[in-house]
Amino acid sequence: MRIRVVNGPNLALLGKREPGIYGRETLADILSAARKRAETLGVTVEDFQSDIEGELVSYIGNSRGAADGLIINAGAYTHTSIAIRDAIAACGLPCVEVHLSNTHAREAFRQNSFMAAVCVGQIMGFGGLGYQLALEALAWHIRERTGKTK
Ligand code: DQA
Repeated sequence: MRIRVVNGPNLALLGKREPGIYGRETLADILSAARKRAETLGVTVEDFQSDIEGELVSYIGNSRGAADGLIINAGAYTHTSIAIRDAIAACGLPCVEVHLSNTHAREAFRQNSFMAAVCVGQIMGFGGLGYQLALEALAWHIRERTGKTK
């Protein structure tokens, strides 16, 4: 089972960026822990980070046939990008939305997610652990839907 983990703008700055909100783990720390969890689930992980909306759109759009599912933290584009939402819908793959922080407990402009309606579900508020939880949830979802175990 192949899962692509997509990270949007400013997430390369994790570790240094507002640690009171996003924690002290770097994106590399988070992805390394997620890969360990993926091994136990029989899942391979490919990851991509970009600050550029169009690059995220292209990567997601090119994922059909290259992955069984997506995990996405679109960062601030979550609240603004219809193009990323359309790319998720267009690629036809199941997608889990992740946020480190609980966006519902923050500013009003973070309350809406353009991603939510085209995702299987959301995991938020658990810091980097959310990526591991998303892998587990997505692997379960793919198994349930397709019977695929590897
Ligand atoms: C975030 C939440 C977004 O509102 C914010 O713009 C981010 C990070 C999170 O993981 O909590 O960049 O997606």
